[in-house]
Amino acid sequence: MNEHKINIHALRAMKQRGEKITALTAYDFFTAKIMDEVGVQLILVGDSVGMAELGYENTLPVTMDDMIHHTKAVARAKPQALLVADMPFMSYASVRTALENGGRLIQAGAEAVKVEGGESMIEQVRALVGAGVPVLGHIGLLPQSILETGGYKIQGRTPQSAERVLRDAEALEKAGVFAMVVEGTVASVAEQVTKSVTVPTIGIGAGAHCDGQILVSNDMLGLFTWFTPKHVKRYANLSEEMRKAFAAYKRDVESGEFPGAGQSFQ
Ligand code: KIV
Repeated sequence: MNEHKINIHALRAMKQRGEKITALTAYDFFTAKIMDEVGVQLILVGDSVGMAELGYENTLPVTMDDMIHHTKAVARAKPQALLVADMPFMSYASVRTALENGGRLIQAGAEAVKVEGGESMIEQVRALVGAGVPVLGHIGLLPQSILETGGYKIQGRTPQSAERVLRDAEALEKAGVFAMVVEGTVASVAEQVTKSVTVPTIGIGAGAHCDGQILVSNDMLGLFTWFTPKHVKRYANLSEEMRKAFAAYKRDVESGEFPGAGQSFQ
């Protein structure tokens, strides 16, 4: 048993001690290795892989096969961090499909799954937890529901919306989630949620008062430069670094500078 391995109980203990949880998304072996080296506590193989890696406009086309492929790659990094995999759109529409697909993600190497939705997903969450599959809830702005809601809309701006977010949080806690992502939610409402549940809240676009924070790694690395959502802070400009490297290589090939003697065999 690895004593440094983070499990769902360690995350709950962090909330109790008032320690912030750092979470990031990863979709491949190498990125997961590097973020694990700095001690991130939760790695999410998000269905954001659809935009971050696969060139889709949103998360809806992402399949179970996509999620399994990327979850296996990240699991090979054997992270100390808790490894959570997203259940993609329609993969948990019923209790039966939730159990079947949740099981497939665990067998691919995930240690928990994430499910979008609150009160409407309670039966699926209960069934998964009952079957031994830890569940990370996801409330507030739900990217898998954009067709129904009409887009990426910040939640908690009206009393009804705030009430709904709070009800969803309470229902998920009762159903047994070990933590919940709060996405795209007015900061004061996310703060109220964080105070009202005993499980950790992990915010993304939900202000500073959640128990932890998560970002899509491609956004914070500056790999996805066409659009930067308001909630993202950029910690690097990797797309510019890549552009410079590719251009320098092309120049060297064209001028005959590469390969030089150092890269040739005598
Ligand atoms: O898919 C994803 O990356 C997510 C995070 C934004 C929480 O759900």
